[in-house]
Amino acid sequence: MTDLSQLEAEISGRIAQAADLAELDAVRVAALGKSGSISELLKTLGAMSPDERRERGPQINGLRDRAGQAIAARKAELEAAELDARLAAERVDLSLPAPPERRGRVHPTMQVMDEMIAIFAAMGFGLAEGPDIEDDFHNFTALNFPPKHPAREMHDTFWLPEDANGERKLLRTHTSPVQVRVMQAANGKLPSWIAAGQQPPIRVVIPGRVYRSDSDATHTPMFHQLEGLVIDRTIHMGHLKWTLAEFTKRFFETEAVVTRFRPHHFPFTEPSAEMDVQCDRSGGAVKIGEGSDWLEILGGGMVHPNVLRNCGLDPDEWQGFAFGLGVDRLGMLKYGMPDLRDMFAGDPRWLAHYGFSAFAAPNPATGLS
Ligand code: DAH
Repeated sequence: MTDLSQLEAEISGRIAQAADLAELDAVRVAALGKSGSISELLKTLGAMSPDERRERGPQINGLRDRAGQAIAARKAELEAAELDARLAAERVDLSLPAPPERRGRVHPTMQVMDEMIAIFAAMGFGLAEGPDIEDDFHNFTALNFPPKHPAREMHDTFWLPEDANGERKLLRTHTSPVQVRVMQAANGKLPSWIAAGQQPPIRVVIPGRVYRSDSDATHTPMFHQLEGLVIDRTIHMGHLKWTLAEFTKRFFETEAVVTRFRPHHFPFTEPSAEMDVQCDRSGGAVKIGEGSDWLEILGGGMVHPNVLRNCGLDPDEWQGFAFGLGVDRLGMLKYGMPDLRDMFAGDPRWLAHYGFSAFAAPNPATGLS
């Protein structure tokens, strides 16, 4: 009996001292495992006389049960302590102010681009795109810029270094070269990856980035244009004027816009014109429908017969108009930004102020958000 009481005291002491679950398990194995001290005692029961077994049996079984219960109780205690420690260490302090939520804004240029495309789409225009890196042929020659003509310099072109074939590519100075690509594709002369399946009659708008070495309040080295091209059999200047007047009204969502057409010269149109919007730029913001300033927003005209010919279209069969709109400038006018350079400075405060929510209610004029 003494040996059993001693063993029990010893096991109880070790259970109480077990500092963690692993130590406790070691105590369990040493007592109740296959060859644990209590298990070994249980094995001796078989060899005992019935009388001896009747006496020792309950004592040893009692010891086994109490040790088992003590281990289970200590285990629950240790697990609770472990949970408490984790809860204390991993506590979330709900009184901390929430970190500011960073919400992306739609850049005004992209907003304006989408609005413009939606307006032209509603008028039946399709969409085409072309590469930013162009060759001399598409950017100038096919557009009827004579070789070495000063008009080429008019664009302050960014030229790229000569390539392996001795050719100097350039960053396109306008979106007009895509007109050439669209007409060539329509003519079946070039792979039509730009305007798949376009056949004359053509009615497309061409949005994109353009580049010129120029910088002031209304010029940046990179800006955006939206080119328009309509080619059909009986297109005339009246169609061009109506299209642009109608576009302007829908874009500004008001009849108060005052525009003027000025005769101009472009090598690729004849006759050619520029269109200005009346505005006031005297304060910190641009206002339309008032003031004595005129901001040029587009060039346009009737596609020059040489351009049609250069693109493989017969000018006796096809004619049309083209125009190039300044996307960022239209954004300045509509949303009152005084300096074009701010649009590309990448200042998040500017974007927070002038940017658009990607989830805004649809614009009633365009159906776009
Ligand atoms: N490409 C001209 C520019 O960037 C704008 C332009 C003028 C486009 C007349 C046209 C056009 O399509 O017909 O200054």
